[in-house]
Amino acid sequence: MNSSASVMSSTRSVPSVALRGAIFDMDGVLTDTIEFHYQTWQRLADEEGIPFDRQANEALRGLSRRDSLLRMLDGRRLPEETIQTLLDRKNQYFREFVETMTSEHLLPGVRSFLDEVRAAGIKTAVASASQNVYAVIEQLGIAEDIDTITNVYCVDRPKPAPDVFLHAAEQLGLSPQDCVVFEDAESGVEAALAAKMRVVGLGPAERVGAAHWVLPGLDGLHWSDVTAKFVDR
Ligand code: BG6
Ligand code: MG
Repeated sequence: MNSSASVMSSTRSVPSVALRGAIFDMDGVLTDTIEFHYQTWQRLADEEGIPFDRQANEALRGLSRRDSLLRMLDGRRLPEETIQTLLDRKNQYFREFVETMTSEHLLPGVRSFLDEVRAAGIKTAVASASQNVYAVIEQLGIAEDIDTITNVYCVDRPKPAPDVFLHAAEQLGLSPQDCVVFEDAESGVEAALAAKMRVVGLGPAERVGAAHWVLPGLDGLHWSDVTAKFVDR
């Protein structure tokens, strides 16, 4: 791993058990769709006269589309039909971005990290809050590298409940303790911890500091660093 990642990292104690699965959140971990989500929410907010800015968008990281809108409305009540129309419109705007996505939209380090994970014989999953997860993974050109893709619509409860990560592990045929999760959202870190998995938080400690290990991102990270951190101690 590069030195900047080492300097900015922190570790919390976790049991040492061999790793067999790597589970990735998508938005903000594999690709920077956070910016696309911001721009599409901002467009909708401007059209509807809903107060919104970049800072407000940060609080939406990891939340489902519906929970994001409810947070933006800040208690303002709208008929269900209107809510549905707004959610559909937001997604229509977002899909315009999705159509432009290619492997160029992978975050730095993702391609080589996936190669190392695959070469080590580790199973891979993507577990996202996004309904667009299948389309985005396809556009990014990494569908062949991922053994199973799931989202919160496949389970009963969204993040921060552990359901989506437990579902991903089950789909891989693994126990939670076999898996390490890579997450950029506070609610996702909480969900992965609740699933009793090892958790690498990507981003500032104020956001993902509850994770077992905090790093700026996947750039410069090697699979051997992950096993050394969690297993070969
Ligand atoms: C999460 C993002 O992964 O997915 C959120 O962090 C986003 O910002 C959520 O709102 C839902 O995405 P989608 O694609 O279903 O609108
Ligand atoms: Mg995310």
